[in-house]
Amino acid sequence: MRARPPGWWWRCDIFRRMQIGNAVARMKESATLAVSAKAAALKAAGKPVIGFGVGEPDFDTPSPVREAAKRALDANLTRYAPTPGDKAVREAVARKLQQENGIACKGEHVTLTVGAKHAIALTLQTMLNAGDEVILPTPAWVSYRPLIELYGGTCVEVGSTVERGFLLDVAAIERAITPRTRAILLNSPSNPCGVVQPVETLRALFDLLASNPPITVISDEIYEKLVYPEVRAGLGHVSPGADPRLAERTITINGMSKAFAMTGWRVGYVAAPGDGGRFIREAIKLQGQLTNSIPTFIMPAVVEALANGAASVESMRKSFAARAQCTRELLSGIARLRTCAPTGAFYAFPCIKACVGLKSPAGRMIDSAQAFAEALLEESLVALVPGEDFGDCARTNIRISFACAESAIREGIGRLRLFTESLR
Ligand SMILES: Cc1ncc(COP(=O)(O)O)c(C=O)c1O
Repeated sequence: MRARPPGWWWRCDIFRRMQIGNAVARMKESATLAVSAKAAALKAAGKPVIGFGVGEPDFDTPSPVREAAKRALDANLTRYAPTPGDKAVREAVARKLQQENGIACKGEHVTLTVGAKHAIALTLQTMLNAGDEVILPTPAWVSYRPLIELYGGTCVEVGSTVERGFLLDVAAIERAITPRTRAILLNSPSNPCGVVQPVETLRALFDLLASNPPITVISDEIYEKLVYPEVRAGLGHVSPGADPRLAERTITINGMSKAFAMTGWRVGYVAAPGDGGRFIREAIKLQGQLTNSIPTFIMPAVVEALANGAASVESMRKSFAARAQCTRELLSGIARLRTCAPTGAFYAFPCIKACVGLKSPAGRMIDSAQAFAEALLEESLVALVPGEDFGDCARTNIRISFACAESAIREGIGRLRLFTESLR
């Protein structure tokens, strides 16, 4: 018999394939990617695409913050730092949480993470066992569900709608609680809804949670600075960690990305003062094995932003408030969209139900938010994000990010109006 050539088995597909773990193989790729990829290709081909897709401020990071990082680099702050961050940055975060959010917290209760996304992943990974349920009020940010499921949890969605103004349905949350419920994940102001939960709604929720002690509250407050009383008077941000009944079991997540226009710096944090600091110590143990600290030379820039950045944040907030008002006015003039006023973050999340079943001028059937977004992009050159990935209740919504110039908002929503009117 002829000898096989050495290494013959490498030519068999089955041996060349590398294993992908079940949890990652099961993870859904984001539906937003398809639209963003198409928008990028159209832009590269020179088409005048209006982009409402990205969830990122269009401002520059305030210059004192950039200068602080440059000084830190020149001072050679380029070596490993303690995993949760150095003492100065942890204390700066704790001070902010005490003074601005009313959360009783010390530096030792904080860890700095590679963005708020990492903070959420770290929190869920530290907490969850297989089969644990996490209540997720939806529509909700696209990464929550995949992360909950990656770490073995079960995501229990409790939906809300544009008709309810995306207010939390506290009675439905109560019905969703089971003996397996470990946590509830809150995000106000919300991505994608663009709404701030009113104090009365939060109070009702906190009352419910106070009487269900096994439930941990995870509060993602990344948009806390972007609240628009200009759009609806009386609104303000409220942290569950400031409620003395919940303080011991609230984990506060936040970061620098949105308020300080620092998306590319990758800085977030977890604060968990409860349980004698046990949770945060376990989270830091995990972080030490996964990533270590954020870059050392970025820490002084975070201290600078938190200590002296308020005026810059307020000036960006004012611009976003003006854009929110402009977006609201323009959307309310579109008969086939059902919209509620954007009161926080930089999103509007209208419902396109009245367009479903109609055809676009080029003959595309609008049978989903995804189909709507694709047709709008191809035919009117407006890129936005279809609702499907934000929860089961969001299948006929579209997300408009108004983190762009007012002229682009006017042009893009103008095209959106003409597109909806052209559907037959
Ligand atoms: C609700 C919400 N949480 C967390 C994040 C992640 O923020 P970061 O850029 O700090 O990772 C985002 C980003 O879009 C978000 O919308």
